[in-house]
Amino acid sequence: TQTSHAVAGAAADKTSSPFLRACRREPVPHTPVWFMRQAGRSLPEYRKVREDIAMLDSCMRPDLVAEITLQPVRRHKVDAAIYFSDIVVPLKAIGVDLDIKPGVGPVVEKPIRTRADLERLRPLDPEDVSYVTEAVGILTRELGATPLIGFAGAPFTLASYLVEGGPSKNHERTKALMYGDPELWADLLDRLADITAAFLKVQIEAGANAVQLFDSWVGALAPDDYRRSVQPASRKVFGAVAGYGVPRIHFGVGTGELLGLMGEAGADVVGADWRVPVDEAARRVGPGKAIQGNLDPAVLFAPREAVERQAAHILQAARGLEGHIFNLGHGVLPDTDPQALTDLVAYVHEHSAR
Ligand code: CP3
Repeated sequence: TQTSHAVAGAAADKTSSPFLRACRREPVPHTPVWFMRQAGRSLPEYRKVREDIAMLDSCMRPDLVAEITLQPVRRHKVDAAIYFSDIVVPLKAIGVDLDIKPGVGPVVEKPIRTRADLERLRPLDPEDVSYVTEAVGILTRELGATPLIGFAGAPFTLASYLVEGGPSKNHERTKALMYGDPELWADLLDRLADITAAFLKVQIEAGANAVQLFDSWVGALAPDDYRRSVQPASRKVFGAVAGYGVPRIHFGVGTGELLGLMGEAGADVVGADWRVPVDEAARRVGPGKAIQGNLDPAVLFAPREAVERQAAHILQAARGLEGHIFNLGHGVLPDTDPQALTDLVAYVHEHSAR
């Protein structure tokens, strides 16, 4: 009775979709599946749309955002769409001088390292991102029964880009600030929490059916440091959107030791990468929360039988869980064969059908 295909124009019932049911830990007809970074360079139709337009410019064009968001839904028949944007879009919208450099990632012209620098992080006004409201409006109509996931970067991961000035392997300047000036660090994360919360609210109020908070690089921290220096800000974000009743997903890479604390921050669903099996992730997170994950995106470069073996292993480990959403353990890699993703969606649907 539940289809997850895009039905253009239909006022379809998203709330009973397998994805939202799994988020709420209700029984599902099959395990829902979507992929982080499902929109993007693995798709020829994406590369075509993006041919003459810079990444951040495309994020401000509601027609392009809607088209790019729909592409993987049409092609792969995934159970959810994720709004096409980037974690730095709200920072750009409040006037931070940054760009996304192809093959590199976000680069910040003047990094944030002093108390005076903090003043450049003014609150986000919904008017700053009116294109988001417009794009989400188009998408809720076009997606029919398929739910839309809104997202934002979590305070720690945003702070890392702002303090380092770009992508970083060791996060040394970020950690220098965190350990060296805890008060300034707390104020920085608190401001980012408000910006992030405002950005998620815009998406939810425009019609997003769930939100994911990406704390991609927080796995660089030990649990005590996470608890003291990051969790208060992430908790503030989740608390700010709790009243809407939409599922809140939390994810980071290499966060095996932080899964319990990340759930505690206020998530309804905790995402795990491939380093921790989903049943063990569920044990670490504790009862009352669903688990999302966790096929290693590099596995998709192996032959189909090997991909299916790994997927079967995850479905097997997830059997006893209250709620499981199949996903990768991190984003789709740019050179992934899109057919491998389409095949994987079909495999998960077929082999989890109840
Ligand atoms: O399909 C989706 O998942 C939605 C799109 C999405 C993008 N960025 C588009 C994008 C999402 C959810 C993000 C989030 C994001 N951005 C994160 C968190 C998720 C994660 O991967 O951990 C992070 C850390 C960023 C920062 C960022 N932006 C990086 C590391 C990069 C890649 C740099 C590169 O070129 O390899 C970007 C750029 C970016 N964001 C691209 C896309 C499709 C590639 C740019 C392009 O297509 O020209």
